[in-house]
Amino acid sequence: MSGFITGLASEPGYTVVENASLEGRNSFRVPARAELLIDVARADVLPQLFDLPALKNGSVLILGAGSNILFTRDWPGVIISMTATGIRILDDRGDAALICVEAGENWNDFVHWSLANDFVGLENLALIPGTVGAAPIQNIGAYGVEVCEFIAAVEVFDRTTNAQIRLDNADCAFTYRDSLFKRTPGRYIVTAVEFLLPRARELRLDYAGVREELTTMGADTPTAPLVAEAVCRLRTRKLPNPNLIGNAGSFFKNPVVPTELAENLHRENPALPIWPATDSQRKLSAAWLIEACGLKGLREGDAGVSSQHALVLVNHGHATGAQILVLAQRVRSEVQQRFGVVLEPEPLII
Ligand code: EPU
Repeated sequence: MSGFITGLASEPGYTVVENASLEGRNSFRVPARAELLIDVARADVLPQLFDLPALKNGSVLILGAGSNILFTRDWPGVIISMTATGIRILDDRGDAALICVEAGENWNDFVHWSLANDFVGLENLALIPGTVGAAPIQNIGAYGVEVCEFIAAVEVFDRTTNAQIRLDNADCAFTYRDSLFKRTPGRYIVTAVEFLLPRARELRLDYAGVREELTTMGADTPTAPLVAEAVCRLRTRKLPNPNLIGNAGSFFKNPVVPTELAENLHRENPALPIWPATDSQRKLSAAWLIEACGLKGLREGDAGVSSQHALVLVNHGHATGAQILVLAQRVRSEVQQRFGVVLEPEPLII
């Protein structure tokens, strides 16, 4: 730690911890420290905070619940975490409502709030770890739904202008596991997200496993809360629980490749799942490619490929972020050698 930031004290609206441990702040549970960790409870203190020299010019990282990040080293600067919670209906139009949710709200709690208040749409996204503020960053998605379908606007603090602004859905440039925010790290701090949620909508049941799970549950007439329950059951069974074993969900994105390559691979490997992406591209199952390389369940020290789901890297206990990254590079290079497909990491790697 260089110790260049000193003397910044907590004030109403934010709390400051120097040389802060991040071990309890990342779901991989790897050790790392930040020179300064600032929990911000009120967005209106951001202009004042970012006027301070250490924040104006230093490297600032925005951290949510830490469920999509891998620290391979300490953070030599400031980490900001938005902790404000709260859900407000801004405009109820009867068939749909505009709902503003503070960035620090827990994502799964908000999904269940929406269902309890008879809104439809977020049920397929139940049980995704993380905060509401992090949801637009990587455009979280699961079971055939992406969060961008329901985002009307994102309220952000723009560090380049020191102003609080509202970006419409189109401004956010959402694509698969990507957005404006992910492409310009450190520039925007998400302070709240505005959702437009309908009260009625056709349920999305086509993703593999959803209908089967509803059948197992005896849910003959699916409703949004029943779909959420089915998704929770699927996730609990298929994905390692970050409360029990450190992980950040999928470690790689499903690769989007030219259709010709996808079709060639599919001809040689008929079991490889492929999905439509764009007119000229297809999305491949990264988990399948990794498992086909014999890497599912692989362990190097305490860094491992989950034996439950090949796309998830896990910390069996005392792995460092650097060790997990070495394992990720091995997975990436074996998949590339065998299939000619390059896997891109999904979490932010520090
Ligand atoms: N598969 C394997 N081996 C495995 C796991 C899966 O071969 O160990 C194959 C199976 O054929 C399976 C297919 O991969 O049918 C797809 O698996 P799954 O339904 O689990 O989906 P995924 O493509 O691996 C994506 C998301 C997940 C999300 C699920 C369900 C990405 C990078 N991941 O995973 O999101 O929960 O779909 O919608 O798009 C996350 O982003 O952190 C995440 C967990």
